[in-house]
Amino acid sequence: MSKDYKRTLITTALPYANGPVHIGHLAGVYVPADIYARYLRLNNRPVTLVGGSDEHGVPITIKAKAEGVTPQDIVDRYHKIIKDSFEELGISFDVYSRTTTDIHSDTASEFFRRLYEKGEFIEQTSQQLYDEKANQFLADRYVTGECPHCHNPKAYGDQCEVCGTSLNATDLINPVSAITGNTPVLRETKHWYLPLDKWEPALREWILEGHKEWKTNVYGQCKSWLDLGLQPRAVSRDLDWGVPVPVEGAEGKVLYVWFDAPIGYISNTKELYPDSWETWWKDPETRIINFIGKDNIVFHCIVFPAMLMAYGDNYQLPDNVPANEFLNLEGDKISTSRNWAVWLHEYLQDFPGKQDVLRYVLTANAPETKDNDFTWADFQTRNNSELVAILGNFVNRAVVLTHKYFEGKVPAVTELQDIDRDVYTEMNKIREAMSEALETFHFRDALKEAMNIARLGNKYLQETEPWKVAKTDMARVATILNTALQICGSIAVAFEPFTPFMSEKLAGMLKLKDLTWTMIGRDDLVAAGTELGTAELMFEKIEDSAIQAQIDKLQQTKRENELKSWKPAPQAADVDFDTFMKADIRVGTVLECEKVPKADKLLKFLIDDGMEQRTIVSGIAKYYKPEDLVGKQVCFIANLPARKLKGIMSQGMILSAEDRDGKLVVISPSASVTPGAQVK
Ligand code: 2FM
Ligand code: ZN
Repeated sequence: MSKDYKRTLITTALPYANGPVHIGHLAGVYVPADIYARYLRLNNRPVTLVGGSDEHGVPITIKAKAEGVTPQDIVDRYHKIIKDSFEELGISFDVYSRTTTDIHSDTASEFFRRLYEKGEFIEQTSQQLYDEKANQFLADRYVTGECPHCHNPKAYGDQCEVCGTSLNATDLINPVSAITGNTPVLRETKHWYLPLDKWEPALREWILEGHKEWKTNVYGQCKSWLDLGLQPRAVSRDLDWGVPVPVEGAEGKVLYVWFDAPIGYISNTKELYPDSWETWWKDPETRIINFIGKDNIVFHCIVFPAMLMAYGDNYQLPDNVPANEFLNLEGDKISTSRNWAVWLHEYLQDFPGKQDVLRYVLTANAPETKDNDFTWADFQTRNNSELVAILGNFVNRAVVLTHKYFEGKVPAVTELQDIDRDVYTEMNKIREAMSEALETFHFRDALKEAMNIARLGNKYLQETEPWKVAKTDMARVATILNTALQICGSIAVAFEPFTPFMSEKLAGMLKLKDLTWTMIGRDDLVAAGTELGTAELMFEKIEDSAIQAQIDKLQQTKRENELKSWKPAPQAADVDFDTFMKADIRVGTVLECEKVPKADKLLKFLIDDGMEQRTIVSGIAKYYKPEDLVGKQVCFIANLPARKLKGIMSQGMILSAEDRDGKLVVISPSASVTPGAQVK
């Protein structure tokens, strides 16, 4: 069915320009969208891949305030990082723009004005929190206070991060402005609402009846939203960062970021095709596909389509929204604020020239139907055991053998045998299976099939053994190596959507030009007589040390997060004074100190306690060298009953403070005192 469309417009969720992009974004949206775009191009089907940075919204203003810079500074910084890193990864955008361009604010304003003039909005005043000191209304994120559900004292106005409940800022008990620390007051403000309820029947019909083929996660989420019943949604905000609301009496108000962001798809298309953009949006023969993550489903399947229907003028709705689930990292949710991520720009620095490896791993493990986990161990295994050992190895063998027996010139076929013909039959089947999978957004399956071509190649060489045949029948070797090189050609085409850099290298080596999808499985792809380029490795092994460096980096992040979230232990229950006074705490001088054999944690002290010498065993071996403690004064509890530790009688306990990272630090008097002095 999809093949009847004249053109395909592929949109990718616009990433917020308040941070770089990470592997979760890539696996969810950009790598699959790029695979699909490249596949359509190989089929000579007209396609446009649209992207851009989402540069409005409250988090950007919060970040700017925290850094003492303007929101524009923030988005300029991250837009550049994001755009450059996408380009380096080979995401083949036809346009990658941003929502702070004039063309975008004009397009978004015009969109709003038309809806306004058509009477598509409800105007409503409501009570919102206002900071009288900062002279501004407070976005939900700018308010903190006590959660009405779990009484967490630091809940945000939009959500309590302790109990997970979604909140309105006005629900908070004792709200405080995050800008000034003032108690905000309630003030009336007017906003424009899009009555989603008005569009509910049309949306039901369009999705629930018309798009039963959508992925179950997408269809299911839409169904539950629709079944809950849709409510009017505010499309404006009191904020000074965004596209101004273009009607009178709206000073100090901007379009809600989720109103202007999807319009970014339209403005970016306009920027690319100033004269023909409407064909890509309004012609029913254009097929629109939105690639997004699962958290964006409601905006793309309900809100934006309702906006487009309200606008009218033949705007087309998406034909499919193949949203992915989430990718986790080493068992934990990816989080920008906790820096728990593999950032694309850092990956590109740490693994130069290995764009394809990341693209491959993220596709092989894509969260297409459920959340998946990225681990560095899996990344290494997939590179070493699949890309290197299966694909790289096969291509290398075919090319090296051709250099060895035919001086690098593609030999001509003398006569095909069944085993050779089977290879072509099999490759054609694989191409069909790949097409089927790619048409229906099953990219993991398609990649698995592509890898089967390389597997087929290895099996073919294993069975035909040209290195043995070479002793007796060079004509047969010619046919075998010709076939092996045709397989290499099919690999170059079949992998192009997934690993375009390798594909280009391989096509270059085989002197293949103008790749098209139907080349897969052909027996005359690489012309006999072609001089092959020098044998280059398609992929290289990734060593343990490179993987360990990434794991260390994540462990460091984990430690930093633990330190950030450290709080002193709650105060213990009261103790009465007399009980406390019973503890006999004294100062002693360390005469000797040594490690306790076969006990990692223990040090054995000989202490001058002013009376006689005493032995104390203490669990601080991880934090001190014994020789550094000799001569130091320490505090110890003198009247604890003696007890045996690792066979040593310990007569007391040395006092230490436990720091937030778990490190124990011995307590010493601030000036030297006579051994045996009591601590009072
Ligand atoms: O969730 C996000 O990262 C949003 N910035 C996505 C916007 S998609 C579109 F509507 F532009
Ligand atoms: Zn709570």
